[in-house]
Amino acid sequence: MRPVNEERRATLITFDTNEKVFHLTNQKISYLFQVEESDILAHIYFGKKIQKYHHHKKYPRRDRGFSGNVPLNDDRSYSKDTLPQEYSGHGGMDYRLPSIMIRRENGSNLLDLRYEKHQIQKGKLTLDGLPQAYVKEENEAETLIVTLKDRQEDIYVDLAYTIYRDRAIITRSVKVRNESESSIMLEKAASFQIDFTNSGRFDEVIALPGAHVKERQLSRQTISDGIKSFESRRGTSSHQMNSFIVLTNKYTTEFVGEAIGIHLVYSGNHSFEIEKDQINQVRLVGGINAYNFSWELQPSDHFQTPEVILTYSDQGLNGMSQVTHQLLQERVARGTHQYQQRPILVNNWEATYFDFTSKKIEAIVDEAKTLGIEMFVLDDGWFGKRDSDQSSLGDWFEYQEKLTRGLKGIADYVHQKGLKFGLWIEPEMISIDSKLYRTHPEFMMQEPNRVPAASRSQHVLDFTQKEVRMAIEKQLRQLLDSIEIDYIKWDMNRSLSDVYSASLGKQNQGEVMHRYVLGLYEMMGNLTKAYPHILWEGCSGGGGRFDAGILHYMPQSWTSDNTDAVERINIQYGTSLGYPISAMTAHVSAVPNHQTGRITRLKTRSDVAMGGVFGYELDLTKLSADEKVAVKTQVDFYKQIRQTVQYGDFYRLKNPFEQNIASWEFVSKDQNEVLLFLSRRLANAQPDFHEVCLVGLVPEKLYKNQKTGDIYSGSELMTVGIYFPDFYGDFQTELIHFISIDKGEEVNESND
Ligand code: DGJ
Repeated sequence: MRPVNEERRATLITFDTNEKVFHLTNQKISYLFQVEESDILAHIYFGKKIQKYHHHKKYPRRDRGFSGNVPLNDDRSYSKDTLPQEYSGHGGMDYRLPSIMIRRENGSNLLDLRYEKHQIQKGKLTLDGLPQAYVKEENEAETLIVTLKDRQEDIYVDLAYTIYRDRAIITRSVKVRNESESSIMLEKAASFQIDFTNSGRFDEVIALPGAHVKERQLSRQTISDGIKSFESRRGTSSHQMNSFIVLTNKYTTEFVGEAIGIHLVYSGNHSFEIEKDQINQVRLVGGINAYNFSWELQPSDHFQTPEVILTYSDQGLNGMSQVTHQLLQERVARGTHQYQQRPILVNNWEATYFDFTSKKIEAIVDEAKTLGIEMFVLDDGWFGKRDSDQSSLGDWFEYQEKLTRGLKGIADYVHQKGLKFGLWIEPEMISIDSKLYRTHPEFMMQEPNRVPAASRSQHVLDFTQKEVRMAIEKQLRQLLDSIEIDYIKWDMNRSLSDVYSASLGKQNQGEVMHRYVLGLYEMMGNLTKAYPHILWEGCSGGGGRFDAGILHYMPQSWTSDNTDAVERINIQYGTSLGYPISAMTAHVSAVPNHQTGRITRLKTRSDVAMGGVFGYELDLTKLSADEKVAVKTQVDFYKQIRQTVQYGDFYRLKNPFEQNIASWEFVSKDQNEVLLFLSRRLANAQPDFHEVCLVGLVPEKLYKNQKTGDIYSGSELMTVGIYFPDFYGDFQTELIHFISIDKGEEVNESND
């Protein structure tokens, strides 16, 4: 037997030189493709690991009318129009979605990509200026770079594939190099393409569409004839269509069947285009949205696309989510707080909105201290002359008249009480009514000679310009250097419009959207690196920029501005498809709920919020004595279970998008602690009895319900299951906490 460490060094990527087949494989997955006739890169397979490939799945040949042939190849049965490929150029009789489009100075745009060479190396590439999944040591992954070249000109495309040793994950990205003598215009540059033949393995897609206060709603659809795009054109990854999708099929359930989760590690305009072709094959192309995009490549220039993460599972959607959660938590998120238990906070936004004083804040802080809350966050309204959303964005200095004891006074007060202090900022924005606008109107993103469109009475700063970013970064550094701040909420409250930068030439205006995102990443990178002790939380009017790119800088994000417990169940359920629980913040707010007017019990609100990184967003001083007792109990309880919630394994059990009930479950990594969430939306006079079977437990272990004392074996909970409580009334929830006991305890109990 080979020693373990030698086995761990097993090669993950091989190239069969006779058959010209690449095989990326580990103990879980295989990814196969080959250099086909005329040096075209053809896809063969992605899915469950195979032992060895014997080269019999060569794409069949057939002469199909109107699907023409490859130049200089007389075989009429071989066409790019049907061949499954790895990355398609444009023109030359492949009429399906291209992955890349260029335009030359003379206007021509044919790009005929052929295999040129490849290289296999340890570890993973570093993508300059872009967030990405990383490795901690070289041995953790291997990377294959396949270089394609235009048949005629020195235009190169490097396809990078990384396979992790111990994860069911492939990452991909693309570098386009212009080594020709003239400049070219890149009009589209996808991060990946994946073609599937007509096997029925992938005939459905799950996307996460939504809206402000309605983010990431599960939408499962059949892939039908023609082309469909899941995309954002708003300059951000957006509330409207998240940058995560799943390829699956109609037989896949939460626990059974195949699924591929696909994260674009990017926070700007994205698109996942899906095409079902003339012979029912499926092509998926994803990356930066080609809408309003172009990028000039001078001779010797290159363009790097964002990375895409492909996670595979044959254990259903939960299996896919778990592989995805682990990767995002362990190899996308970074920094001091990556694995740290997150503090329970109270945020003053829904408590006061803009209407607060130092005194009011201190009263909330006093109450927070009594209730065991660990952090106070001062939200919007502390800077410039900000009394409403009409002014002051860009003026990141304290509003002295409002904060009579000063921002430092508040921070000190909070710290003296033994709590952490957090602050809200919105660095990418400018108000017309601001000192910044009065001194630098040119910092605002706008088209020449046009009045730009306002949204929430605010405008976007031109973050493509270094000078603009530096001006904001300087102010923020002054703030962070002068006041002890433990947490920052980085908000962004509008979509981009009037997309133009005065600093770029007319042929470069198609670069603005992407340059904006690169500028944002640069600043987020600078600040999170310079202030690593700060817990950074992303936010964009709730979850408008909840994506894997932001997660690389900020380990958590505000999930939604919708704090209604009932609607939050769906939002959190949908979000969990692609994102780990440690990334999802969830707060208990007041009733009637400010977004829906709905009244729910405090217990319901807290049971739902405990499905994420927990906090409060209400005026604690207005709670009744009974409510304070309840809140103190909730806070104490969350402290007990938070390691399991934030860093355990998460399972979706009952889907609220399909039923009147919902259920999810957290299991600690050692499988000794379980938290089961159950809910029912609307009451019926003659209700069904709902049941649920738990998952992820040790069959032989005994688990005790901490409230009732009832003891169950793991196998019993997983197969016989339990009933939902006999709920009475609408919007009811229950949290059941099980802890494993040793068998001795059961015997003692039954002897009593
Ligand atoms: C939008 C955020 O999502 C809210 O939580 C709050 O911070 C407001 N912005 C403040 O303007």
